[in-house]
Amino acid sequence: MSEDPATGRFIVFEGPEGAGKSTQIARLAARLRAGGHDPLVTREPGGTPAGDRIRGVLLDPDLRVDAATEFLLYAAARAQHVSEVIGPALADGRVVLSDRFAAASVAYQGYGRGLDLDWIHDVNARVTAGLRPDLVVLLDLEPSVGLTRVAARGRPDRLEVAELAFHLRVRDGFTALASAEPDRWRVFDAGEPAATLESRVWRAVAPVLGMRP
Ligand code: TMP
Repeated sequence: MSEDPATGRFIVFEGPEGAGKSTQIARLAARLRAGGHDPLVTREPGGTPAGDRIRGVLLDPDLRVDAATEFLLYAAARAQHVSEVIGPALADGRVVLSDRFAAASVAYQGYGRGLDLDWIHDVNARVTAGLRPDLVVLLDLEPSVGLTRVAARGRPDRLEVAELAFHLRVRDGFTALASAEPDRWRVFDAGEPAATLESRVWRAVAPVLGMRP
């Protein structure tokens, strides 16, 4: 965690499909704004004009994209995201809330697709210039439940259409990452009602921001 009070704080939300990250990020951002703060809300893949175009390729269910290409495109979008958006915002002392970051590549492309984990960690470290989140909020959910939620939203994207076994490996990946770094990760049951989840998340996030829950 950054010790320098002049730099901002970086909070990342992760989880399997349909875990409700966007809802929880919006609620947390609203809470911070109500308290007079100005959080930057962003997402991966995306968060920049170039990254949003890369996102279009990555999520297009009509495209064939192999695992290595997939990872390198996520990494490319991440490099742009850190240099253009996240890095400058943190340098300005802002709180950055990101819907996904480097761990998603470990879970999806490493555990899910089976790419070499050391390669993913190495590329992640390079494209982020070593930037790590101060806190990762893992909204954990049974993948079959999340995929049912997602299916109700409309046409699934290229990742969402992957088989259930893939999504089960992704969930295991997130759980393994959280267990390996319990000081940086907090795990929440995303099956809880949104308001309950919001309060639980706030109790974990507030101290990281130097605020009282
Ligand atoms: P979203 O559904 O949370 O907006 O994320 C888009 C999709 O991209 C989701 O299926 C997770 C996937 N993803 C990866 O596979 N690897 C990554 O590095 C990131 C950031 C997202």
